[in-house]
Amino acid sequence: MSILFKPISIGKMAVKNRFVRSATNDYLGNPDGSISDRELDIYRELAANEVGLIITGHSYVQHPLGRASANQNAIYHDRFIEGYAKIAGIAREYGARLVIQVSHAGRQVRPDLARDIVPVAPSAVTEKTTGITPRELTNEEILGWIDDFAAAMARARAAGCDGVQLHIAHGYGLSQFLSPHTNRRTDRWGGSIENRTRILREIILKGRRLAGDDFPVLVKLNSTDGFDGPGYLSPEDVICTAKLLESLGVAAIEVSGGTREAGGSMSRTNILRPDQEAYYAGAARAIKSAVSIPVILVGGLRSLEVMESVVESGTADMVALSRPLVREPDLVAKFKSGRSRTASCISCNACFNPRGLACYNRGKKGE
Ligand SMILES: Cc1cc2nc3c(=O)[nH]c(=O)nc-3n(C[C@H](O)[C@H](O)[C@H](O)COP(=O)(O)O)c2cc1C
Repeated sequence: MSILFKPISIGKMAVKNRFVRSATNDYLGNPDGSISDRELDIYRELAANEVGLIITGHSYVQHPLGRASANQNAIYHDRFIEGYAKIAGIAREYGARLVIQVSHAGRQVRPDLARDIVPVAPSAVTEKTTGITPRELTNEEILGWIDDFAAAMARARAAGCDGVQLHIAHGYGLSQFLSPHTNRRTDRWGGSIENRTRILREIILKGRRLAGDDFPVLVKLNSTDGFDGPGYLSPEDVICTAKLLESLGVAAIEVSGGTREAGGSMSRTNILRPDQEAYYAGAARAIKSAVSIPVILVGGLRSLEVMESVVESGTADMVALSRPLVREPDLVAKFKSGRSRTASCISCNACFNPRGLACYNRGKKGE
């Protein structure tokens, strides 16, 4: 039996295998942000096909400023608990675990939404791909983010989910605090890495108080902004953040990278050979050697061979997939039964589609 089918524990959460469905915004929520029936079908298909840990698409904790895209799911109010309770129930039926990813968009808002609001961010740094210049958050507004994230974490528990994941990646709000590129503040929320991570510390402490100390808090952490050099998130900052998160009781760290501004760094295209897979393996290895909690690797994992070597070599404890499970929601079941040894995903990114999550190049093979 492959090492990928060995169970693992994330805090008190026992997971039946090493496969994670990485958070994937499906653009299929109801217009008010609640869970739609089409979404229930997506989660059922994943749970029924052996995915051990399912992480929802990022759910916004504050309305309207926290919302990144239309038809994104929300968790800023107790009325959203019901929909998540349904998904958690579906996961439980099949022995899968369900974790809600929670986020604030900050400045990384789709331009169609930014017509009606002025996005906010740690600092007023223009996002070059959209031209959006956010308004700098006030101290009171930052305290509001802490309250809203913590309340969302408590709602995840109230919904019967197995845990919650803070989205500290891909250029969204919390990663804007972490990066010196987007956080130019000179108060206690900016400057040193201690100050740039202060909001994370406050959210986790308050969230654990509200949700209960034993409720697993996971994070998806940027290992890079997608830009190198001074003025951007450095590898030293990342290691320091990982250690801090562990000391605050975080149960697992999923390692990713990139921002929308940096282009193709989060979901790289044309992953067609094993040597192109696992593109954040180096960062995962560095984080894994700095902490003792489970590390999850995401980014370009396609073949069973590479996924096994990630776990066997101690690069990470679990492997997370997004696009391959859009094309083949039954991929893990196929791996388990020996029907497949590699995903057929061609990494074209056509699944990034506001019309709704689907593989829009189903018949196509990679170049
Ligand atoms: C359509 C789509 C939506 C995504 N939504 C999210 C999200 O809500 N939260 C998140 O952390 N990452 C999101 N991602 C990024 C993926 O979780 C993952 O980190 C990235 O695509 C690399 O993994 P892959 O090669 O397995 O796709 C999304 C990716 C895609 C393709």
